[in-house]
Amino acid sequence: MMVIDVLTLFPEMIEQALSHSIPARAQKAGQIEVRAHQLRTWAVDRHGTVDDTPYGGGPGMILRVDVAHAALAALDHGHKAHRVMLTPDGEPFDQAMAQQFSAKKRLILLCGRYEGFDARIDKYIDQKVSIGPYVLSGGEIAAAAIIDAVTRLIPGVLGNAASLTEETFVDDRTEYPQYTRPDKYQGMVVPEVLKSGHHAQIQQWQQEQRRQLDH
Ligand code: 6GU
Repeated sequence: MMVIDVLTLFPEMIEQALSHSIPARAQKAGQIEVRAHQLRTWAVDRHGTVDDTPYGGGPGMILRVDVAHAALAALDHGHKAHRVMLTPDGEPFDQAMAQQFSAKKRLILLCGRYEGFDARIDKYIDQKVSIGPYVLSGGEIAAAAIIDAVTRLIPGVLGNAASLTEETFVDDRTEYPQYTRPDKYQGMVVPEVLKSGHHAQIQQWQQEQRRQLDH
């Protein structure tokens, strides 16, 4: 069982994004536990303030270090979890990083909704991660994407017998064209070989198609 804590101003975004399909099934099966926490829980004032304007000026609001530290200390006393900050200037998330995360027992994902994080928060996290070269309004969608990708790599989550033997399981990309009914649509037809029932020929065709893609 992997436990993933998400610190966020919008816990419903995380819960909603992971309430369908494979991530929902993995949670029900107890293969992962996702806990989305409201950062305001750790606000130091009665108004629930978690952000403030930047010293020296500049646009927007910055996540406070005292709030972030209190939340991390409360969830992970002793720093056993792998602590990740979601930020557009982080290390690019890819399938290899997903593999590394999937081996962790505990992950904490820290989302900032505002223009940034107080630089002193760096002391309390292990890694900064981005999901791509574009700016999102907050880390929540990035956190949900990461949790989805990681969940799929946990042994037993995609557990059908075929996925354990087929090459597709290794990198989770088929890399050859696929088709389903109808076999003819607006003049576009399904390659005859795929309907032939000749398993060896089908595999040969799929391999050939895979070769024609760039790598
Ligand atoms: Cl992790 N956060 C934000 N705010 N924007 C992003 C991102 C993360 N990754 C790509 N863009």
